[in-house]
Amino acid sequence: MPLKFYKIYDFAEHGKDPQAVFSVRTIEIKNKLICLARLADAYYAVDDKCPHAGARLGLGKCSEEGKVICPIHRYQYDLKTGRGLPQQGDYVNTYPIETRADGVYIGLDKKWWQI
Ligand code: FES
Repeated sequence: MPLKFYKIYDFAEHGKDPQAVFSVRTIEIKNKLICLARLADAYYAVDDKCPHAGARLGLGKCSEEGKVICPIHRYQYDLKTGRGLPQQGDYVNTYPIETRADGVYIGLDKKWWQI
């Protein structure tokens, strides 16, 4: 499915280092809440809503092993694959991120374009 990319960070406006390494936050794009994480190598984006009981993952923590940790019951989700721990048996959707010369972009598929 084709993607449309939306700018999250504009390096001219936010600087070249707009989010701390190993941090998470919630962003809103097209009325959709997304958890944006920064690891040492890149940015990653997953659903903000924890599938366990609906907490906002963007209010949680980011581990150096590349997982977002939910702030309520501490379930963990891999930021690259979206998979929870095997004993959890759940997952979150992941979204492509591109770091370009002028900023950081997230790709959303067509169902989000008209919102
Ligand atoms: S709400 Fe996220 S682990 Fe329970």
